[in-house]
Amino acid sequence: MTATAATDLPLWPPTNPHHGPFALLDSEAQGRLDQPVTRVLLPTGATAWLVTRHADVRELLRHPGLSANFEKPGFPLLRRLPPQSEVDRQGGFIRMDGDEHVRLRRMLTAEFMIKNVRRIEPLIQRTVDETLDALEAAGPPADLVEAFALPVPSMVICHLLGVPYADHAFFQARSRTLLDRTAPPDRLRAEVGQLRDYLRELVVARQADAGATTDLIGRLVRDRVDTGQLTVDELVGMALLLLVAGHETTANMIGLSTLLLLRDPGCLDALREHPDRAPALVEELLRYLSVVRTGLPRLAVEDVEIGGRLIRAGEGVIAVLSLANRDPEVFDTADDFDPYQQAHQHLAFGFGVHQCIGQPLARAELRIALVELARRFPGLRTTVTPEQIPTRDTSVVFGLDSLPVTW
Ligand code: HEM
Repeated sequence: MTATAATDLPLWPPTNPHHGPFALLDSEAQGRLDQPVTRVLLPTGATAWLVTRHADVRELLRHPGLSANFEKPGFPLLRRLPPQSEVDRQGGFIRMDGDEHVRLRRMLTAEFMIKNVRRIEPLIQRTVDETLDALEAAGPPADLVEAFALPVPSMVICHLLGVPYADHAFFQARSRTLLDRTAPPDRLRAEVGQLRDYLRELVVARQADAGATTDLIGRLVRDRVDTGQLTVDELVGMALLLLVAGHETTANMIGLSTLLLLRDPGCLDALREHPDRAPALVEELLRYLSVVRTGLPRLAVEDVEIGGRLIRAGEGVIAVLSLANRDPEVFDTADDFDPYQQAHQHLAFGFGVHQCIGQPLARAELRIALVELARRFPGLRTTVTPEQIPTRDTSVVFGLDSLPVTW
């Protein structure tokens, strides 16, 4: 069977075409494939099955016959990766299967449960308020990504983990490389190594300071490392995953959501007048923007039937969240942003055993950030057209490089 070339699809654009974020979203809607399960040629030259229907993506992501382990031969990589040492893969449970994955994820589940995230809402509120105070004091114009969308989730995850925010330039730059599909493998390896070294130093410092247990790294040292349940390298890998996943995704969501709401000024007014509608609006933003753009890769480790198609053991599969989130079988206005849509069934956080552990935190951050922005900056507007806004097209997580605004 012939395979559709990756460059024909809006999921993995080879370069930044500078047509603006909405052009890319629209092309994605048009790019819905005739067949729900289609053979595609990946950017690496390998082939895989692309799964795009909501029901099929759910089935695929909860199927025990599919592996998330990048290192298995035949895994459908979306970019060239450097070979990993045994130490480098430790703790990164997003790429583990079965008991190995469960063991590490369980150590964090309670931390990110809704009731515990409620307890840190005052911290999120304070972070948002102080960041907006600084934006107001500096006066217009401003880059909303640099001054708001990126600092808020970075400060929150730093506070939770116990990573000094003063080092944000260091970890934000390396996180960006880690998520860039076009980063050369050598550079990727070097920068991940630097991040691991940095976090290892923090872990070792916590080990030396038995009193430092107010943050997550300190608590995991006391409860898991010191008790022999977790190695230092595993904790380093877990902290790295949380630090990167905990700021990039939410930052990109805040930036893109603001731009989308500014496109239709009525949306920001409605949010200011009815902040109680914010939770539903956040779900629709997550659905429509689906920032984990490249799709979730998996490898079939047994024969599996998805969407009426037999996928043989050893074949790769990509679950395309952004297209599943535009499935007309599930969403009334599938291709358009509709602030009144009931979008709670979206799959922007994935599904199954790897479903995003940080989703209650991400939801709280998005809600508080957008409500406060609407409340405090009623005159907010962009100073350029959407086509002039640089987008992160080569990143695994779609977003804006900058968002020039005034008020
Ligand atoms: C709007 C923001 C976010 C989006 C759209 C998002 C999306 C996702 C998706 C799609 C997955 C599944 C990956 C897969 O199955 O391969 C995932 C997993 C994960 N996310 Fe998020 N995420 C967000 C925010 C966060 C935050 C704030 C944190 C940190 C606290 C976080 C931590 C994680 C972790 C640790 C995993 C791996 C879970 C596992 O493998 O069991 N995410 N995220």
